[in-house]
Amino acid sequence: MKKKIAVITTGGDAPGMNAALRAVIRTAVSCGMEITGVRKGWWGFLEDDYIPLDSKSVSGIISTGGTFLKTRRCPLSKTADGLKTISENLKKIAPDGLIVIGGDGSMRAADAIAKKSGVPVIGIPASIDNDIAGTDETIGFDTAVNTVLSAVDKIRDTATSHERVFIAEVMGRDSGFLALSAGLESGYEIILIPEIKTDKKEVLKKIKAFTSEKSSLIIVMAEGAGSSDELAGYLGKMTNLKVRVSKLGYIQRGGSPSVDSRVLAAVLGYEAVMLLKNNKKNLMCAWVKDSFTTVPLAYPASHKKKLNLKWLRIAEVLAGQK
Ligand code: F6P
Repeated sequence: MKKKIAVITTGGDAPGMNAALRAVIRTAVSCGMEITGVRKGWWGFLEDDYIPLDSKSVSGIISTGGTFLKTRRCPLSKTADGLKTISENLKKIAPDGLIVIGGDGSMRAADAIAKKSGVPVIGIPASIDNDIAGTDETIGFDTAVNTVLSAVDKIRDTATSHERVFIAEVMGRDSGFLALSAGLESGYEIILIPEIKTDKKEVLKKIKAFTSEKSSLIIVMAEGAGSSDELAGYLGKMTNLKVRVSKLGYIQRGGSPSVDSRVLAAVLGYEAVMLLKNNKKNLMCAWVKDSFTTVPLAYPASHKKKLNLKWLRIAEVLAGQK
């Protein structure tokens, strides 16, 4: 009997989701499975919005950002009624398995739906935030870091020319992976992350120490580390420096996936289908120490992925902080 499975992308999109869909769909076809795409994230189950998929459906998408299946935030996937409808419809369209490509919240919802429906569910971590416990890297993170580097390198040019302080605000509501990684790799003088409470006076002290030697500097600030506008106002008031804010915003979510993001998409997409083929269930595909592995689907919900704070110290020393 042909296995009937489905695939869905949910939560914030991440570059490499399309490459992951291609890997999932082409592998499923090669295994002789019937595969259905659920459109617009969990909403697709609530609105019966499905499309049959084949090898041709994913031609020419490996290099594109976004997700051709579309995605949405779906608060209903957290309610008892929403879970019930999603689970009932999942059992009808794909009784043999669901592959969920998405972030931290998507893995939680996937776990709840696996438990409610009894259908085998496999998660593929994809998020620019890299904040999913159990995997060293998520699909899209490397691309987003590169986007931040190229944008802030441009900001550096104008900051140097005008001798200004810039606060470059990057995404990361709850975690500082993007800010810290970009900070380490590009030598920004001060890195502010949600994991460490922003102390305005401390930032001021650091700036004063720097400005005896440098006439311009870059503060990279994760959106979850506080208000960049407020910090700029405070620093401007307490010094005679010209402080500007540049919010990178949604450009961080788009673009053609980098090599790293594509490799992850290919391997995790292929392995996710193989897990279903081999009758495995309720696992999240993961990338640990440069190799494929799995963790229970419930793992991300009960663990917080920790930043390597040693990187913060290294970045500070290399940027010239005392
Ligand atoms: O989860 C990825 C992310 O880009 C976060 O870094 C950011 O805080 C959030 O999504 C923005 O969400 P939305 O797309 O709902 O505005």
